[in-house]
Amino acid sequence: MRIDIITIFPEILQGPFSESIVKRAISKGLAEIYIHQLRDFTSDKHKKVDDYAFSGGAGMVMMIEPIAKAIDFLKSEREYDEIIYTSPDGDLLDQPMANKMSMYKNIIILCGHYKGIDERIREHYITKEISIGNYVLSGGELAAAVISDSLIRLIPGVIGDETSALSDSFQNGLVSPPVYTRPREFKGWKVPDILLSGNDKLIDEWKFEQSLIRTKQRRPDFDNK
Ligand code: ADE
Repeated sequence: MRIDIITIFPEILQGPFSESIVKRAISKGLAEIYIHQLRDFTSDKHKKVDDYAFSGGAGMVMMIEPIAKAIDFLKSEREYDEIIYTSPDGDLLDQPMANKMSMYKNIIILCGHYKGIDERIREHYITKEISIGNYVLSGGELAAAVISDSLIRLIPGVIGDETSALSDSFQNGLVSPPVYTRPREFKGWKVPDILLSGNDKLIDEWKFEQSLIRTKQRRPDFDNK
């Protein structure tokens, strides 16, 4: 999978992609991430990419020209499955959406800023708008990192233990059961006996039951039949 991210703050995106699973995916050649500085696509001599909104009102709007140029350039090189804009009024990112998008070959993510982008970009270029939650971030970079991470970890071969991504919370509409590691007892708090029993069948049943209980308690909004 190739992800092209268009941003005015490329540095924000360095950290999330240079550690852990995403870093490994990139070094294994399973994911490619290219970060593009939007200012490189403006013809303005001061590299300005925002302007006042027609009709006034507080806040600047990201201009159409540099964004259109950046996307046109990328589209002239390859086809994209989706051109995504990060926005608090987009579709809420969830696991089924991540699963679907993890099968894409090429995507663009445009990071929003200020009061947003010129609406004509949304009308004529953007194919999908994604929100990562019902709160407002200072910009779309963290959302782009979250979206990218959620997709990359699902690419076959990225996570060593193939079952690991599939056993994530939400994958089967259930949250994960509790997990424990050594020591068996700490300050008198014990690991449940069943997990030390060595009986795989009983352990699997216990885990499933715990998942059901937790889902009911914590995420009753998950509609499990
Ligand atoms: N930009 C600002 N807030 C956002 C959010 N919640 N999700 C995606 N992009 C955003």
